[in-house]
Amino acid sequence: MGKVYYVSKNVGLGLLVLAATALATIIALSIAYDKERAKNRDKPEDGTSDSTGMPTPPTTPFIPKEPWDHYRLPESLVPVSYNVTLWPRLEPNADGLYIFTGHSAVVFRCVKETDLIIIHSNKLNLTTFNGHHAKLSGLGGAAVPTIQKSFLIVKTEYLVLQLRSRLAVGTSYVLHTEFLGELADDLEGFYRSEYTDDGMKRVVATSQMQATYARKAFPCFDEPAMKAVFNITIIHNSATVALSNGRDIGTTDSVIDGVPVRVTTFEPTERMSTYLLAFIVTDFVNIQSTQNSNLLVRIWARRKAINDRQGDYALNVTGPILQFYERYYNASYPLSKSDQIALPDFNAGAMENWGLVTYRETALLYDPIMSSTGNKERVTTVISHELAHMWFGNLVTLQWWNDLWLNEGFASYVEYLGADYAEPTWKIKDQILLYDVHKVFAVDALASSHPLSRREDEVNDPAQISEMFNTISYSKGAAVLRMLSEFLTEPVFAKGLSSYLNTFAFSNTVYTDLWDHLQQAVENTPGMHLPDTVHNIMNHWTLQMGFPVVTIDTRTGSITQKHFLLDPESVVDRPSQFNYTWFVPVKWMKTGVEQQQYWLLQKTDVHSLMRVSGEDWVLANINVSGYFRVNYDLDNWDRLLSLLNTDHQALSVINRAQIIDDTFNLARAKIIHTTLALRTTKYLSNEREYIPWESALRNLDYYILMFDRTEVYGALQAYLKKQIQPLFEYFKIITADWTRVPTGHTDQYNQINAVGMACSMGVEGCRELIQGWYRQWMKNPHPSPIHPNLKSTVYCAAIAFGGVEEWDFAWRMFKNATLASEASRLRSAMACTKVPWLLNRYLDYTLDPTKIRKQDATSTIQYIARNVVGMPLAWNFVRAKWSYIFQQYGKASFSFSNLIHAITRRFSSEFELQELKKFKEDNLHVGFGSATLALEQAIEKTTANIKWVTENKAQVLKWFTEEST
Ligand SMILES: *[C@@H]1O[C@H](CO)[C@@H](O)[C@H](O)[C@H]1NC(C)=O
Ligand SMILES: *[C@@H]1O[C@H](CO)[C@@H](O)[C@H](O)[C@H]1NC(C)=O
Ligand SMILES: *[C@@H]1O[C@H](CO)[C@@H](O)[C@H](O)[C@H]1NC(C)=O
Ligand SMILES: *[C@@H]1O[C@H](CO)[C@@H](O)[C@H](O)[C@H]1NC(C)=O
Ligand SMILES: [Zn+2]
Repeated sequence: MGKVYYVSKNVGLGLLVLAATALATIIALSIAYDKERAKNRDKPEDGTSDSTGMPTPPTTPFIPKEPWDHYRLPESLVPVSYNVTLWPRLEPNADGLYIFTGHSAVVFRCVKETDLIIIHSNKLNLTTFNGHHAKLSGLGGAAVPTIQKSFLIVKTEYLVLQLRSRLAVGTSYVLHTEFLGELADDLEGFYRSEYTDDGMKRVVATSQMQATYARKAFPCFDEPAMKAVFNITIIHNSATVALSNGRDIGTTDSVIDGVPVRVTTFEPTERMSTYLLAFIVTDFVNIQSTQNSNLLVRIWARRKAINDRQGDYALNVTGPILQFYERYYNASYPLSKSDQIALPDFNAGAMENWGLVTYRETALLYDPIMSSTGNKERVTTVISHELAHMWFGNLVTLQWWNDLWLNEGFASYVEYLGADYAEPTWKIKDQILLYDVHKVFAVDALASSHPLSRREDEVNDPAQISEMFNTISYSKGAAVLRMLSEFLTEPVFAKGLSSYLNTFAFSNTVYTDLWDHLQQAVENTPGMHLPDTVHNIMNHWTLQMGFPVVTIDTRTGSITQKHFLLDPESVVDRPSQFNYTWFVPVKWMKTGVEQQQYWLLQKTDVHSLMRVSGEDWVLANINVSGYFRVNYDLDNWDRLLSLLNTDHQALSVINRAQIIDDTFNLARAKIIHTTLALRTTKYLSNEREYIPWESALRNLDYYILMFDRTEVYGALQAYLKKQIQPLFEYFKIITADWTRVPTGHTDQYNQINAVGMACSMGVEGCRELIQGWYRQWMKNPHPSPIHPNLKSTVYCAAIAFGGVEEWDFAWRMFKNATLASEASRLRSAMACTKVPWLLNRYLDYTLDPTKIRKQDATSTIQYIARNVVGMPLAWNFVRAKWSYIFQQYGKASFSFSNLIHAITRRFSSEFELQELKKFKEDNLHVGFGSATLALEQAIEKTTANIKWVTENKAQVLKWFTEEST
């Protein structure tokens, strides 16, 4: 749950590149996914950090003495069902506080003799009965021990009852509580979200339970394996609607304490985990359909959003996605309805509450006029991700949070399958390469990475649980499960999956249960042979961190594997039971003909079929179905490069992208020469596809950062201009001189790349095009002549090319923007200007809350720092005002580490290193808060950059110079 926020993707590559000169933008919509979704399609947003999931240092040692000192519940009691009644007040009380009241009765069974009742309860004011925080009764007249003592433990978030005698094994009891809690705007538990409609403030009561916040709404056994049936009742104003996991089965109007209220009751839920509960009271409205055999499907949002038809797209894709999963899992949708709701104020990107999924507005609403293709794709993939959980995660739930990677990795993999079914023309399955595989390769190639799997006893308190929601869990989980599905084949994978889901429906599992069911599916498939069990193969990928680089020498047929480390000098101090070797499934082809899959099971091996000569070539890891990188002998590299140059379509889009990404990373790791990596970009003048271009631009970004203030940049720019020009011309033609939107889904993304890159590299015609659009817009702001796909790129480039007039117009549009995404595009684009006084004025605005909202201040400085002209100005600004910024803008704010990172990204000289060290010394008395680690990392990275530039500058200059003529 670690609030992971992301920026939506495709804000543009162009931008990334524009970044080259204008250094703009990587920004845009902030996203997070299920408390989750460390999704890659996004870059870390404003002010928040991309969690890499590195374990936090141990806090003060704490030795549990009493049963309630343990973060895990004892095994003596299990809940059976709850009656929960909640009454949120959407108006503040006399003290100005928003509150909710409620009462609950939980039926639990005693399975081990005990005289203690330990149940979670956090921040609730409990009513006392005879001096105790709860009442205990027996079920069916069972004798009940009396309560001796009751107390609350804040640290472990428990309500504890000590009894005078023991509870009897096999007997059920009922625990009654009555409570009052604050309906705070803290986005946790039962909380309050506010929005304005027609200038009126409106309040929504909503909830976020994952991972450990249900206990903040009512006392409960708040662990995922403590599944129970929940009978929910919500009391609310009759002008609002109450929603929960199940269908409502009745409303009655009555008067409580003199207040007229409506009481809505819901059908009993299925047996489920507390973290998947949801309660909402709102004035939202819905659109609905019953397309899937009478299943009620509803999309809820603010009235205005629904009236503007922003929910239509979500409703359109939900039916097909649910149908897809019913077939894929071979299990019908487990509930009687599916609600999805867009909340104006929501921390994560989305949350898969069973039957009532909550989303950020940007993850569910799509405006046919204002939204870009990237926005639409996001809606599809987030819905697909959340609905995948309705079975995997909700129907069958992992026992404990240490296995979170399986839940999230699984949903992060199959979301592509569901989205592909809903939008078959998008070829979205290929994008997993960019948005999960390449993303996590970057993190998992560091010596500081960690294995997917944790032991259950390593994850206990809420902070440790939070840490599990990271890129490794989501993206590496997705990548290794995709690999597993590929080597088992999809039908076998789906068969094992279906058997797992049907066997464990409504209960809990550990990850090896899935392996066992997949193993059975393998054994029931005639002719299928694996080198070892699913369990043993997968252990290599889940129990040790990292991944291998597989090297094939086509002269001898020798094939070897080695732990891939981006920094060859880094020291791995984490031991591995497999000594950093893997069971590697290698799908490969020889000169275009796919060969039988080969398994590399040792460090070195010889596979004589891989020995080739003459014109023949070998390409391994077809479609990057395996989670590893590949290297070859130089002759084979030469043959692959010449194939790219003569007939690049002989290789799939994914493999073209992979050749680029592998070589650039192998060069960074000093396994091959930098020039070999650069040579993979030569064929790009013939490339029209998005995925290889995106991959190249991401890799070239480092070169741009290191050299955009040096003589190398002229040659680099000349080379890239030559490479991008044909792509720019291509889009000019297929869009009929920029008057149409390309029909292909990824073509729309690549058009953004083409325009952004062409403008920053100085391709003729680009500047005029952009300026023309922008001027037209300045003359006539409504409706905008700029297509939503291109807005970020066009704004940034036009402001970079322009002066005060363009800037001031953007500022006015920013101040008047009613759409958050539009305001955020403009805010980032204004940082693209090359005019120093405009940049300095903008820096001053960032510390004036009447101009730039406080929450946006540090991210705005970051945008300015991404601009090559703005970087030194931002650095001076931050140094001059550090103590003020630090005091005013929060010591705990995540954005401080991003700020340091953004400012120091280009640092690559001894002088800059000294400045950085001096900054650290000068401000020791002020402190750096959350930026402390970032500052250390910046010093380390600057040192590494200095080294890299020293070693590579001359050859890079020479190469670009030779290739640009
Ligand atoms: C909740 O409802 C179910 C189904 O009607 C019932 O069996 C169960 O006892 C109820 N739970 C409680 C705590 O009363
Ligand atoms: C739960 O609520 C139902 C319906 O109001 C009621 O019949 C039942 O007795 C309640 N269960 C408990 C344990 O209080
Ligand atoms: C809960 O009780 C404490 C102590 O009496 C009080 O300070 C606090 O305001 C109460 N909380 C709410 C939400 O009323
Ligand atoms: C939803 O589907 C309907 C019927 O196919 C179609 O007319 C409409 O354009 C779709 N809406 C969106 C936003 O895709
Ligand atoms: Zn998820």
